[in-house]
Amino acid sequence: MRSAIFFLTGVAMMLLGGWVGLPKVLYKQQAQPLDFSHKAHVVKAEMDCTGCHDFREDGSFAGVPKLDNCAGCHAEPVGTTANEKKLVEAHVTPEKEIGWLVYSKQPINTRFSHAIHVKKAELKCERCHGEHGKTETLRPYEYNVVSGYSRDIWGRSVSRLRRASHEGMKMDDCMDCHKEKGAVAGCLGCHR
Ligand code: HEC
Ligand code: HEC
Ligand code: HEC
Ligand code: HEC
Ligand code: HEC
Repeated sequence: MRSAIFFLTGVAMMLLGGWVGLPKVLYKQQAQPLDFSHKAHVVKAEMDCTGCHDFREDGSFAGVPKLDNCAGCHAEPVGTTANEKKLVEAHVTPEKEIGWLVYSKQPINTRFSHAIHVKKAELKCERCHGEHGKTETLRPYEYNVVSGYSRDIWGRSVSRLRRASHEGMKMDDCMDCHKEKGAVAGCLGCHR
């Protein structure tokens, strides 16, 4: 009886250790090149999302803004933060692009069109990206050391249970919404 208790306690501890420890071993962190406050721009400077994330004339999505979008307002510091000083001195003045790491980045063999989802299907950014457009500071980028994929593809929850619908964007997550909305896409619609 006692040895059974010891054994089960041991198994429980190993399970717990793996549960807590595995994500730490499986994911590596990388800091963003610069901190960025969406809140400062969307709330304080009252900019629209489209001020930085618009569609190009050919209909494709511009994605993360280039330095050109920042230079107009930040040729000289408008505030007093060290972070903005870094923006001006390390990027705007020497005209050096900021190498933002994209949390939602999909594997290279996958393709995704914002035009279809945002313009045609009229989905809100929040449905897939959560509250990123309201954040004040950037969390570190995390990637899976085995696959190299961004952590946001799997989502934060290791079990994938009890997670909000925008957390994680695996193939199943694309499919779940397509099923719900009656959208049709074949393998080659999403893969290249
Ligand atoms: C002043 C320009 C600016 C405005 C306005 C702006 N953004 Fe951004 N956005 C950025 C920059 C710079 C990045 C790259 C850094 C980052 O990840 O936040 C970014 C990244 C993003 C990402 C990509 C996250 C990822 O890596 O997967 C999302 C989603 C996003 N913005 C949503 C929004 C939404 C929603 C709004 C409007 C409420 C908005 N943004 C307004 C500049 C802007
Ligand atoms: C329309 C003008 C405008 C544009 C375009 C703009 N900003 Fe700003 N930015 C502001 C204003 C105004 C503030 C000051 C907000 C405040 O009062 O703190 C600011 C503040 C900042 C700060 C300092 C905030 C902090 O908390 O550290 C950084 C960094 C920054 N912007 C980066 C960027 C980047 C990167 C881009 C381009 C993707 C960009 N900005 C585009 C107007 C702009
Ligand atoms: C149906 C889900 C969905 C919606 C809605 C959506 N996105 Fe995305 N977004 C994605 C996916 C998936 C990616 C990754 C694409 C890739 O890596 O090919 C992404 C990538 C991005 C990126 C990084 C782009 C790049 O070129 O690396 C930005 C910025 C972004 N989204 C902003 C937005 C904004 C702003 C909105 C609202 C106007 C929005 N998204 C709406 C799913 C969505
Ligand atoms: C609605 C979009 C969509 C469709 C349709 C789709 N896929 Fe995918 N698939 C994805 C996305 C997104 C990923 C990357 C995320 C992931 O690994 O789940 C992926 C990943 C994969 C992977 C790699 C799994 C991995 O973990 O790296 C394979 C293999 C694959 N898809 C095969 C297929 C085949 C075969 C079909 C047709 C029967 C198909 N897919 C249809 C979106 C789609
Ligand atoms: C929140 C819901 C939602 C999510 C998540 C979503 N989609 Fe979709 N998708 C739609 C809807 C709705 C349509 C149909 C748009 C229309 O034709 O009006 C669509 C259409 C498509 C199409 C078909 C385009 C065509 O040829 O008409 C492709 C390809 C596609 N999505 C890829 C993806 C991929 C890849 C992902 C995951 C990375 C994804 N979608 C995630 C809602 C979603």
